[in-house]
Amino acid sequence: MNNTSPTSLLDEALQRHLAGMDPDAALALRETLCAVARACVRISDVASLGVLADAHGLAGASHVHGEEQKRLDLIADDLMAASLEGCRHVAAWASEEHEQPHVSHAHGAQGSHLVVFDPLDGSSNIEANISIGTIFSVLPHRYRGMAPGAADFMQPGHQQIAAGYVLYGPATLMVLTCRRGVLVFGLDRRGDAPQWVLTYDNVRIAEHTREFAINASNQRFWEKPIQRYVAECVAGDSGPRMKDFNMRWVASMVAEVHRIMTRGGVFLYPRDTREPRKPGRLRLMVEAAPMALLVEQAGGRATNGTSELLDLVPDTLHQRVPVILGSKDEIDRIVSYHADPSENVSWQLFKTRSLFVQPQA
Ligand code: AHG
Ligand code: MN
Ligand code: MN
Repeated sequence: MNNTSPTSLLDEALQRHLAGMDPDAALALRETLCAVARACVRISDVASLGVLADAHGLAGASHVHGEEQKRLDLIADDLMAASLEGCRHVAAWASEEHEQPHVSHAHGAQGSHLVVFDPLDGSSNIEANISIGTIFSVLPHRYRGMAPGAADFMQPGHQQIAAGYVLYGPATLMVLTCRRGVLVFGLDRRGDAPQWVLTYDNVRIAEHTREFAINASNQRFWEKPIQRYVAECVAGDSGPRMKDFNMRWVASMVAEVHRIMTRGGVFLYPRDTREPRKPGRLRLMVEAAPMALLVEQAGGRATNGTSELLDLVPDTLHQRVPVILGSKDEIDRIVSYHADPSENVSWQLFKTRSLFVQPQA
């Protein structure tokens, strides 16, 4: 790689970070991650130009989840696909935007990696110029010599070789784990060519927090353990938690997770009863599993309420799942609310005295 490549410093940092790993496996991982990182530089370019690059508005199509695709969803998807096609270690990839995985024309049989990605997370925020992101996950291609099919992607999150996200905010950042802790790279645009520069190398999520994030407009559809947890937080120092909490909702998971990485917190997109056939809003493979690996590698915890997210074996590429992740102490508490049926009884008692029912004067 030459000095004008945006990934030359990233590659050097990864070389040091992966010291001791099998040299062939480390080289393959570096090359795959650099291919992702190069695509994300281009996505950042287009995202930052926005309407000037004709990247705003609807694309006029829907994806497998029935959601309308934005122009930037498809531009980002194309940029990732083009970059991965050029990487000799990527056998196939799967995107939120396509029902089926795509097998690499040139490297389908020999590549050692499968890449899964959400090319543009937080699409509803694009035109409002609020932070958006890309989420990615690298899985092993276990049957080398054969082109992979969808079944080869059905691996639980704990099989991920690496996972990360790129946040396109006031700064463009890449947060990455290769299962050796969590690294942060900033995209430095001051030189002739942009460069990913290592800025933090051991991110730890605060164990304690007074901040949570949930889309409260769905409150009437939540199950009791979530009702109880949120009601107790909102009750603040006059409730059973005896301390005040703060609430946030960006509607870009990448931005929410990054806030948790920097100052702790809890992110919840729980199961709800809006559409009983859908167990959650977020996608296990492109959103929940990569974020769960990052959060656990930073000392946090990620669950669906009853199981660790990294233990879930996907049934389908686009399976949805409840997501509850962040600072460990709070996630432990939420899991205990799911585990103990009596907790739901005490929630009912609490409810009669909480903010939802104002005491009679
Ligand atoms: P995407 O833009 O890839 O469809 O993902 C959006 C996700 C996630 O980023 C965010 O946390 C959540 O959907 C927002 O949901 P609401 O629309 O319910 O706020
Ligand atoms: Mn998303
Ligand atoms: Mn998306």
